[in-house]
Amino acid sequence: MSTAGVDRSAGNALDINWVRAQFPSLQTQVNGHPAAFLDGPAGTQVPTQVMHAIQSYLKTSNANTCGAFLTSRRTDEMIAAARTTMAGFFHCERDEVVFGQNMTTITFAISRAIGRELKGGDEILLTVLDHDANFSPWKALEEKGVVIRQVDIREEDCTLDLADLKNKLNEKTRLVAVGYASNAVGTINPVAEITRMAHAAGAMVYVDAVHYAPHGLIDVKALDCDFLVCSPYKFFGPHMGTLYGKRPHLQNFRPYKVRPCTEQIPDRWETGTQVQELIAGIGAAVDYIAEVGRRSNPAATTRREALAAAYRATVAYERRLVTRLFEGLQAIPGVRIYGITDPKRFEERCSTISLRIGKHHPTAIATFLGERGIFTWDGNYYALNLTERLGVESQGGMLRIGLVHYNTMEEVERLLTALREFTTK
Ligand SMILES: Cc1ncc(COP(=O)(O)O)c(C=O)c1O
Repeated sequence: MSTAGVDRSAGNALDINWVRAQFPSLQTQVNGHPAAFLDGPAGTQVPTQVMHAIQSYLKTSNANTCGAFLTSRRTDEMIAAARTTMAGFFHCERDEVVFGQNMTTITFAISRAIGRELKGGDEILLTVLDHDANFSPWKALEEKGVVIRQVDIREEDCTLDLADLKNKLNEKTRLVAVGYASNAVGTINPVAEITRMAHAAGAMVYVDAVHYAPHGLIDVKALDCDFLVCSPYKFFGPHMGTLYGKRPHLQNFRPYKVRPCTEQIPDRWETGTQVQELIAGIGAAVDYIAEVGRRSNPAATTRREALAAAYRATVAYERRLVTRLFEGLQAIPGVRIYGITDPKRFEERCSTISLRIGKHHPTAIATFLGERGIFTWDGNYYALNLTERLGVESQGGMLRIGLVHYNTMEEVERLLTALREFTTK
């Protein structure tokens, strides 16, 4: 692997110099150190293309929707184009894409709409591994007498216990809410398999793909899930959320909405005025990923092929970084990594790692690193059920290191050096 040019070591070319040149914020300095953004799971940096799209919308098209004049028409066209782009990203139809404020807000809206149709004794299956945004909105339906069950993890590798899931699925289960990838320990869940199991029991599946989206190509058709939600600010776009819903669900469930708003899908799910300038940025974020793909594989012709090529290149690249990170971490006395650590199983995880070092408080480690320009996260990152289950919640949670495709091997080495310094200071 080289950071001094095109990385072709796994047959997937990622032009890391070009990639980094797209992200102006990567030039940030802290106390004379270049910033290393290892905080991607909390939000990724944004390429220039996205900034330009937002600015250009505000300059040329700023208006509310559905008006009989130029800038409003431009706004309608921009939203339609962004929706088409997101449909390509999810691999669904355009009217199956809903924009919203963020994943959490969208999930509360969907859980309330689904909850309207549920009755006491209906069951919803959640998991210990999930972010709280795919837990609390469903848990709130207990008020209606809905029974919440929770799938456990296998503690040794922080993977979902599928036998437990199978046991807890039954004819009363109406919905299974599951994460595609854990924002805490990086586990990638077998969502297609879980969807088959849930559908066989007559339950719908709601997938939280927020953490997966920067690390893998989403294909809702192949997954056959009923809903899938993610947040563009985790995949190089602006702070928003977006949802895929199967057309019959978007038509049949009843959103809480105002009367003048259309009953057409997907608009009936988009409450009030959207942050239109940011919708312009979503399209540009997907275009950026497609551009990474075209550069890594010029033979990719369609946007979907380009997206697939991008993820092939970035996943291969991230895996090399994470392999070195694991090697280095395991050599530091006192480091305990949570989740899958066997390199032979790295296909089951993405490049997000949580750890503890002896009895050190994770905030102390994150602060030490932060002063050296290395941005990590500490605490529970809202994966509260998991930190409680692992018994670390009362001790400050864990330290999270998140690698995405704009990070470099030099940054990994800097992090390892700083952690060694921390443990020997
Ligand atoms: C896995 C996961 N799900 C859901 C969320 C919540 O997303 P949002 O901030 O868009 O509400 C996050 C945010 O960190 C996340 O990592």
